[in-house]
Amino acid sequence: MIIRSIEKNDESEVYHMWSRYHIDELPFVWARRLCTMKPIRYIFGFAVIYSLAINIVAGIVLAGLCYTLSYIVSLVEMTFYVNRRQDMKDIVSNWGESFLVAVTDDGKEIMGTLTWQKIDPGKLIFDGRLIENNVYELFSLVVPVEYRRSGVARKLCQLALEKAKTDNADVYLETSFGQIEAQKFYERLGFQKARFDRPYSVEWPKWLTSLLDISYVACYKRHQ
Ligand SMILES: CC(C)(COP(=O)(O)OP(=O)(O)OC[C@H]1O[C@@H](n2cnc3c(N)ncnc32)[C@H](O)[C@@H]1OP(=O)(O)O)[C@@H](O)C(=O)NCCC(=O)NCCS
Repeated sequence: MIIRSIEKNDESEVYHMWSRYHIDELPFVWARRLCTMKPIRYIFGFAVIYSLAINIVAGIVLAGLCYTLSYIVSLVEMTFYVNRRQDMKDIVSNWGESFLVAVTDDGKEIMGTLTWQKIDPGKLIFDGRLIENNVYELFSLVVPVEYRRSGVARKLCQLALEKAKTDNADVYLETSFGQIEAQKFYERLGFQKARFDRPYSVEWPKWLTSLLDISYVACYKRHQ
Protein backbone atom coordinates (compact mmCIF):
# COMPACT_ATOMS: atom_id res chain seq x y z
CA MET A 1 0.00 0.00 0.00
CA ILE A 2 1.25 3.46 -0.90
CA ILE A 3 0.08 6.59 0.85
CA ARG A 4 0.39 9.89 -0.96
CA SER A 5 -1.43 13.17 -1.41
CA ILE A 6 -4.40 13.13 -3.70
CA GLU A 7 -3.86 13.97 -7.35
CA LYS A 8 -6.28 15.51 -9.79
CA ASN A 9 -6.91 12.24 -11.63
CA ASP A 10 -7.80 10.48 -8.33
CA GLU A 11 -10.73 12.79 -7.77
CA SER A 12 -13.45 11.02 -9.69
CA GLU A 13 -12.57 7.62 -8.15
CA VAL A 14 -12.39 9.13 -4.68
CA TYR A 15 -15.71 10.84 -5.23
CA HIS A 16 -17.20 7.59 -6.48
CA MET A 17 -15.83 5.60 -3.50
CA TRP A 18 -16.92 8.25 -1.05
CA SER A 19 -20.44 8.62 -2.43
CA ARG A 20 -20.77 4.81 -2.77
CA TYR A 21 -20.09 4.53 0.95
CA HIS A 22 -22.92 6.96 1.65
CA ILE A 23 -25.32 5.27 -0.77
CA ASP A 24 -24.53 1.63 0.11
CA GLU A 25 -23.87 1.79 3.82
CA LEU A 26 -25.86 4.69 5.24
CA PRO A 27 -29.10 2.70 5.35
CA PHE A 28 -27.35 0.21 7.69
CA VAL A 29 -25.86 3.04 9.75
CA TRP A 30 -29.31 4.58 9.98
CA ALA A 31 -30.85 1.22 10.88
CA ARG A 32 -28.36 1.00 13.75
CA ARG A 33 -28.92 4.61 14.72
CA LEU A 34 -32.66 4.04 14.81
CA CYS A 35 -32.19 0.92 16.93
CA THR A 36 -30.18 2.88 19.49
CA MET A 37 -32.76 5.66 19.89
CA LYS A 38 -34.72 5.38 23.10
CA PRO A 39 -38.28 5.39 21.71
CA ILE A 40 -37.33 2.96 18.94
CA ARG A 41 -35.56 0.70 21.45
CA TYR A 42 -38.77 0.56 23.50
CA ILE A 43 -40.95 0.01 20.42
CA PHE A 44 -38.54 -2.58 19.09
CA GLY A 45 -38.28 -4.30 22.47
CA PHE A 46 -42.03 -4.45 22.71
CA ALA A 47 -42.31 -5.59 19.09
CA VAL A 48 -39.77 -8.37 19.61
CA ILE A 49 -41.59 -9.73 22.68
CA TYR A 50 -44.92 -9.36 20.92
CA SER A 51 -43.78 -10.97 17.72
CA LEU A 52 -42.08 -13.84 19.55
CA ALA A 53 -45.28 -14.43 21.41
CA ILE A 54 -47.67 -13.93 18.53
CA ASN A 55 -46.02 -14.31 15.18
CA ILE A 56 -42.43 -14.33 13.98
CA VAL A 57 -43.59 -12.82 10.68
CA ALA A 58 -44.48 -9.60 12.49
CA GLY A 59 -40.81 -9.30 13.49
CA ILE A 60 -39.68 -9.67 9.89
CA VAL A 61 -42.20 -7.08 8.72
CA LEU A 62 -41.03 -4.67 11.44
CA ALA A 63 -37.40 -5.22 10.48
CA GLY A 64 -38.36 -4.50 6.85
CA LEU A 65 -40.19 -1.35 7.92
CA CYS A 66 -37.22 -0.29 10.03
CA TYR A 67 -34.89 -0.77 7.08
CA THR A 68 -37.26 1.08 4.73
CA LEU A 69 -37.47 3.94 7.23
CA SER A 70 -33.66 3.92 7.50
CA TYR A 71 -33.43 4.01 3.73
CA ILE A 72 -35.76 6.98 3.47
CA VAL A 73 -33.90 8.85 6.23
CA SER A 74 -30.56 8.14 4.58
CA LEU A 75 -31.91 9.48 1.28
CA VAL A 76 -32.74 12.69 3.14
CA GLU A 77 -29.20 12.73 4.50
CA MET A 78 -27.86 12.13 1.00
CA THR A 79 -29.85 15.03 -0.38
CA PHE A 80 -28.88 17.47 2.32
CA TYR A 81 -25.35 16.36 3.14
CA VAL A 82 -23.68 14.69 0.18
CA ASN A 83 -24.98 17.24 -2.32
CA ARG A 84 -23.91 20.07 0.00
CA ARG A 85 -20.33 18.72 0.13
CA GLN A 86 -19.19 20.46 -3.06
CA ASP A 87 -15.61 20.27 -1.68
CA MET A 88 -15.62 16.54 -2.50
CA LYS A 89 -16.03 17.35 -6.20
CA ASP A 90 -12.82 19.39 -6.32
CA ILE A 91 -10.76 17.84 -3.56
CA VAL A 92 -7.34 18.99 -4.72
CA SER A 93 -8.15 22.69 -4.62
CA ASN A 94 -10.25 22.44 -1.46
CA TRP A 95 -8.03 20.18 0.64
CA GLY A 96 -4.67 20.10 -1.12
CA GLU A 97 -1.87 18.01 0.38
CA SER A 98 -3.74 17.32 3.58
CA PHE A 99 -6.09 14.95 1.72
CA LEU A 100 -4.40 11.56 1.95
CA VAL A 101 -5.27 8.57 -0.17
CA ALA A 102 -4.08 5.03 0.39
CA VAL A 103 -3.72 3.25 -2.94
CA THR A 104 -2.92 -0.31 -3.93
CA ASP A 105 0.70 -1.08 -4.90
CA ASP A 106 -0.23 -0.94 -8.58
CA GLY A 107 -1.80 2.48 -7.95
CA LYS A 108 -5.07 1.36 -9.51
CA GLU A 109 -7.44 1.31 -6.55
CA ILE A 110 -8.15 3.66 -3.70
CA MET A 111 -7.98 1.78 -0.39
CA GLY A 112 -8.91 4.66 1.85
CA THR A 113 -8.93 8.40 2.42
CA LEU A 114 -8.39 10.84 5.26
CA THR A 115 -7.99 14.56 5.53
CA TRP A 116 -7.56 17.14 8.24
CA GLN A 117 -7.93 20.82 8.92
CA LYS A 118 -6.27 22.94 11.58
CA ILE A 119 -8.38 24.59 14.26
CA ASP A 120 -6.97 27.56 16.15
CA PRO A 121 -6.46 27.33 19.92
CA GLY A 122 -9.52 28.26 21.96
CA LYS A 123 -12.00 27.42 19.18
CA LEU A 124 -12.95 23.91 20.25
CA ILE A 125 -14.92 22.55 23.17
CA PHE A 126 -14.51 18.87 24.02
CA ASP A 127 -16.56 17.30 26.80
CA GLY A 128 -17.40 20.75 28.17
CA ARG A 129 -13.75 21.88 28.25
CA LEU A 130 -12.29 24.60 26.06
CA ILE A 131 -9.21 23.28 24.27
CA GLU A 132 -6.36 25.78 24.43
CA ASN A 133 -3.99 23.83 22.16
CA ASN A 134 -3.70 23.74 18.39
CA VAL A 135 -5.95 21.03 17.05
CA TYR A 136 -6.12 19.01 13.83
CA GLU A 137 -9.66 17.99 13.01
CA LEU A 138 -9.88 14.79 10.96
CA PHE A 139 -12.46 14.30 8.20
CA SER A 140 -13.37 11.87 5.42
CA LEU A 141 -11.89 8.68 6.88
CA VAL A 142 -13.40 5.96 4.71
CA VAL A 143 -12.04 2.54 3.81
CA PRO A 144 -14.03 0.52 1.24
CA VAL A 145 -15.49 -2.68 2.70
CA GLU A 146 -13.11 -4.96 0.78
CA TYR A 147 -10.03 -3.36 2.39
CA ARG A 148 -11.27 -3.10 5.96
CA ARG A 149 -9.49 -4.70 8.93
CA SER A 150 -6.16 -4.70 7.14
CA GLY A 151 -4.68 -1.67 8.85
CA VAL A 152 -5.43 0.94 6.15
CA ALA A 153 -7.24 3.39 8.44
CA ARG A 154 -4.64 2.88 11.17
CA LYS A 155 -1.85 3.78 8.75
CA LEU A 156 -3.68 6.87 7.45
CA CYS A 157 -4.45 8.06 10.97
CA GLN A 158 -0.92 7.42 12.15
CA LEU A 159 0.35 9.76 9.43
CA ALA A 160 -2.12 12.45 10.50
CA LEU A 161 -1.24 11.92 14.18
CA GLU A 162 2.48 12.23 13.41
CA LYS A 163 1.86 15.39 11.41
CA ALA A 164 -0.19 16.81 14.28
CA LYS A 165 2.52 15.87 16.75
CA THR A 166 5.16 17.79 14.79
CA ASP A 167 2.86 20.84 15.08
CA ASN A 168 2.27 20.19 18.81
CA ALA A 169 -1.38 19.81 17.93
CA ASP A 170 -4.04 17.62 19.51
CA VAL A 171 -6.37 15.64 17.27
CA TYR A 172 -10.15 15.82 17.21
CA LEU A 173 -12.99 14.42 15.13
CA GLU A 174 -16.70 13.89 15.18
CA THR A 175 -18.60 10.76 14.32
CA SER A 176 -22.11 9.51 14.81
CA PHE A 177 -23.72 7.06 17.17
CA GLY A 178 -24.45 4.54 14.38
CA GLN A 179 -20.80 4.31 13.30
CA ILE A 180 -19.83 1.61 15.74
CA GLU A 181 -16.78 0.38 13.81
CA ALA A 182 -15.42 3.92 13.68
CA GLN A 183 -15.89 4.37 17.43
CA LYS A 184 -14.09 1.10 18.16
CA PHE A 185 -11.34 2.12 15.77
CA TYR A 186 -10.79 5.52 17.43
CA GLU A 187 -10.87 3.98 20.89
CA ARG A 188 -8.23 1.51 19.75
CA LEU A 189 -6.06 4.42 18.64
CA GLY A 190 -6.32 5.95 22.12
CA PHE A 191 -8.95 8.65 21.50
CA GLN A 192 -11.19 9.75 24.37
CA LYS A 193 -14.90 9.85 23.56
CA ALA A 194 -17.58 12.34 24.59
CA ARG A 195 -21.18 12.85 23.59
CA PHE A 196 -22.37 16.09 22.01
CA ASP A 197 -25.74 17.27 20.81
CA ARG A 198 -24.67 19.78 18.18
CA PRO A 199 -25.88 19.12 14.60
CA TYR A 200 -23.57 16.80 12.68
CA SER A 201 -24.00 16.08 8.97
CA VAL A 202 -27.61 17.24 8.81
CA GLU A 203 -29.20 19.89 10.98
CA TRP A 204 -32.16 17.93 12.26
CA PRO A 205 -34.61 20.12 14.20
CA LYS A 206 -33.75 20.37 17.92
CA TRP A 207 -37.18 19.07 19.00
CA LEU A 208 -36.63 15.94 16.89
CA THR A 209 -33.14 15.20 18.24
CA SER A 210 -34.34 15.66 21.86
CA LEU A 211 -37.39 13.52 21.25
CA LEU A 212 -35.36 10.72 19.67
CA ASP A 213 -32.42 11.10 22.07
CA ILE A 214 -30.00 11.60 19.16
CA SER A 215 -26.47 12.56 20.05
CA TYR A 216 -23.13 12.38 18.31
CA VAL A 217 -19.68 11.36 19.40
CA ALA A 218 -16.63 13.58 19.62
CA CYS A 219 -13.22 11.92 19.83
CA TYR A 220 -10.13 13.65 21.10
CA LYS A 221 -6.49 12.73 21.52
CA ARG A 222 -3.82 14.91 23.09
CA HIS A 223 -0.44 15.01 21.45
CA GLN A 224 2.17 13.26 23.61
C1 LIG B 1 -13.82 2.85 10.67
C2 LIG B 1 -12.99 2.40 9.48
C3 LIG B 1 -12.38 3.63 8.81
C4 LIG B 1 -11.86 1.46 9.98
O1 LIG B 1 -11.02 1.17 8.87
P1 LIG B 1 -10.07 -0.15 8.81
O2 LIG B 1 -9.04 0.08 7.76
O3 LIG B 1 -10.92 -1.36 8.69
O4 LIG B 1 -9.40 -0.13 10.25
P2 LIG B 1 -8.00 -0.87 10.66
O5 LIG B 1 -7.89 -2.15 9.89
O6 LIG B 1 -6.90 0.12 10.49
O7 LIG B 1 -8.30 -1.18 12.19
C5 LIG B 1 -7.44 -0.81 13.25
C6 LIG B 1 -8.06 -1.28 14.55
O8 LIG B 1 -9.30 -0.61 14.79
C7 LIG B 1 -10.23 -1.53 15.39
N1 LIG B 1 -11.34 -1.80 14.48
C8 LIG B 1 -11.45 -1.42 13.17
N2 LIG B 1 -12.63 -1.83 12.66
C9 LIG B 1 -13.27 -2.50 13.67
C10 LIG B 1 -14.51 -3.17 13.75
N3 LIG B 1 -15.35 -3.26 12.70
N4 LIG B 1 -14.85 -3.75 14.93
C11 LIG B 1 -14.03 -3.69 15.99
N5 LIG B 1 -12.82 -3.06 15.99
C12 LIG B 1 -12.46 -2.47 14.82
C13 LIG B 1 -9.48 -2.83 15.62
O9 LIG B 1 -8.93 -2.78 16.91
C14 LIG B 1 -8.40 -2.76 14.56
O10 LIG B 1 -7.25 -3.48 14.89
P3 LIG B 1 -7.20 -5.09 14.61
O11 LIG B 1 -7.73 -5.30 13.22
O12 LIG B 1 -5.75 -5.40 14.77
O13 LIG B 1 -8.07 -5.71 15.66
C15 LIG B 1 -13.85 1.60 8.43
O14 LIG B 1 -14.59 0.62 9.13
C16 LIG B 1 -14.83 2.48 7.62
O15 LIG B 1 -14.48 3.02 6.58
N6 LIG B 1 -16.08 2.61 8.11
C17 LIG B 1 -17.13 3.39 7.38
C18 LIG B 1 -16.82 4.87 7.35
C19 LIG B 1 -16.68 5.47 8.72
O16 LIG B 1 -17.42 5.17 9.64
N7 LIG B 1 -15.70 6.40 8.82
C20 LIG B 1 -15.42 7.13 10.02
C21 LIG B 1 -16.01 8.47 9.91
S1 LIG B 1 -15.80 9.42 11.37
